[in-house]
Amino acid sequence: MSPIPSQSMSLRKTPPITDSEFHALRDFIYKLTGIDVPERRKYLLETRLGARLKTLGLKNFGEYYKYLTLSPERKKELDFLFEKITTNETSFFRDIKQLGVFKTFVLKNVLDAQAKSNNKQLNLWCAGCSSGEEPYTLAIMLHEILKMSIIGWKINIFANDLSPAMITKAKRGVYNDYSLRNTPKEIIAKYFMPQPEGFKVHPKVQKLVTFQVLNLNDSLAIKRIQKSHIVFCRNVIIYFDDDMKRKVVNHFYDNLLPEGYLVIGHSESLHKYARFFIPQAKPGGIMYQKAK
Ligand SMILES: C[S@@+](CC[C@H](N)C(=O)[O-])C[C@H]1O[C@@H](n2cnc3c(N)ncnc32)[C@H](O)[C@@H]1O
Repeated sequence: MSPIPSQSMSLRKTPPITDSEFHALRDFIYKLTGIDVPERRKYLLETRLGARLKTLGLKNFGEYYKYLTLSPERKKELDFLFEKITTNETSFFRDIKQLGVFKTFVLKNVLDAQAKSNNKQLNLWCAGCSSGEEPYTLAIMLHEILKMSIIGWKINIFANDLSPAMITKAKRGVYNDYSLRNTPKEIIAKYFMPQPEGFKVHPKVQKLVTFQVLNLNDSLAIKRIQKSHIVFCRNVIIYFDDDMKRKVVNHFYDNLLPEGYLVIGHSESLHKYARFFIPQAKPGGIMYQKAK
């Protein structure tokens, strides 16, 4: 099981994944992450992992499964697998219409309530944050709303993702034009510093966000997360099956403070999973509030 391929191995074409290999890998991925790879997306494993088999000098997906489960390198390989099987598409100010509702309705309510009770603290959990554009967007929105008064607030945005590579990129905080394609020019000028490799997020934005590799299937790790006023989890639960969706939504519910809010992607729905959330439908998006 040497990771160094011989020349003949590297020239050989990886054989297609068999049904039993696919089922073993799919069940393994599901057990670890809750990500559901349906039968019709079998090709995804072939296309995303085929080159990896070659690099590792493995003959087929059965050998790759053994490598993932038995090799001394398995921990490192899992990180690679997570990176390959996840869809990390994101951008700053993604779905601006929904963010508008979030700002005028959710953020305003929560900030007003906290200020009124003389507790200028805001805990936000951004689950499945990919390479960091989303939590940084939230931090920029808070700067824009609170302006100078932000110094009187204790704001913690806890952002996590399954993929270590995404979290490394997020912590670095340097982005290209594509990540910033939805960001107004004046916001770029105010909160980013041009650098040879792209645009670096300003330290005053970075300091509001803490990044961590975290698997939403890891119930113990989730229980340790600080209680939140708002949980933001957009375009993540679509990759889960019903059982995992229910489990994750229950974790969000438990993590939220009374009357806290859950924000999911505009194409996602909670109706099957959430008995305890009150949907607040606004033009531009539905926000879900935890009952008192
Ligand atoms: C499509 S991106 C969404 C990013 C961002 N929330 C947005 O809407 O722009 C989905 C992210 O969910 C993460 N993810 C998938 N399964 C996860 C799990 N079990 N635990 C933590 N993150 C997960 C992926 O790594 C990926 O970065």
